[in-house]
Amino acid sequence: MATDYKITIEKVKSNLIEDISKVGTVNDLKLLDIKYLGRQGEVNQLFKSLPIKENPLIGKDINELKNLCAKLLSEMVDHLLQQPSAIAFDVTIPGIQLPKGTKHLITKAIEDIESIFNQLGFVRRRYNEVETDWYYAEGLNIPKGHPARDDQETFYLSEDVVLTAHTSNGQLHEMEAIKVPPIKMINISKTYRRQADATHSPMFHQFEGLVIDKDINITNLIGVTEYFAKSYFGKDRVIRLRPHHFQFTEPSFEIDISCGLCHGTGKIRDKDCKICKSGWLELGGAGMVHPNVLKNGGLDPEKYSGFAFGWGVERVLMMKSGLSLPDLRLLYTDDLRFLKQF
Ligand code: PHE
Repeated sequence: MATDYKITIEKVKSNLIEDISKVGTVNDLKLLDIKYLGRQGEVNQLFKSLPIKENPLIGKDINELKNLCAKLLSEMVDHLLQQPSAIAFDVTIPGIQLPKGTKHLITKAIEDIESIFNQLGFVRRRYNEVETDWYYAEGLNIPKGHPARDDQETFYLSEDVVLTAHTSNGQLHEMEAIKVPPIKMINISKTYRRQADATHSPMFHQFEGLVIDKDINITNLIGVTEYFAKSYFGKDRVIRLRPHHFQFTEPSFEIDISCGLCHGTGKIRDKDCKICKSGWLELGGAGMVHPNVLKNGGLDPEKYSGFAFGWGVERVLMMKSGLSLPDLRLLYTDDLRFLKQF
């Protein structure tokens, strides 16, 4: 009789082992935990039904069973957690869709421009947007009080500090950084001018190319800018140079690109081309780096020569895509109805 209770305890133990062997998920184990170790569970029932007061050994055996239950259940939890497939996972529940962003039009244009110049060995730079008067103007051969300063509607932060109105300030920084040519940089940065209307934004972007080495001449300037024009706008496009004036280049040019619609003729079926009227569209300024600018950058103009050009990112983007925005400033709003179209 004394061992009857052992049989009862053994039965509970063998039931538990069998139950555990059938478990498939952590949830099943939670139910077993309640079934055996819960307040109304099998183990507590043993404490109630067996004569523990008469025989203290019974209590000791039930406690051992209790510990064993806890140990087996927790080992099984560990085992299941190592097998992801066994964790309850309802594959039919719809997933959470995260909204997907896309690159902004201007970001894409900057990347396109950068990669074209990378092919020619230009190094991407990003120079100061808040700039001192020296790098912005005086060092570029535009003395204080010179009328050329009126060309750009500059934001002055103080008498000596400006929000740069062009990327040409990067020229002197690059000469100072590289010291010994060859220099081949493409500086793409933000620029600022005091203009705000449907076709102007007070903040926009320019890309400035600068090449300095021995024996650099105008044919190099034409080669590089035409390579860009053909890569960015299409193989059939050509460029032309028009004489112009900038203080920091000599000679200076405006560079035009043939119109993609009328192919440089200015006419479509005997009528004036609506896009260009003349066959040509203006890309922007360029020229051979002025000797004074080379000197200001620490280089000997007798030894080195170079060319530079500085054009608007938004401008080439609009010219390429044929986008006719009712207001250029839409590019800088966060209106998803506009941005989602690209
Ligand atoms: N900085 C001039 C502008 O913003 C463009 C330019 C750059 C002209 C380099 C010549 C050489 O209009």
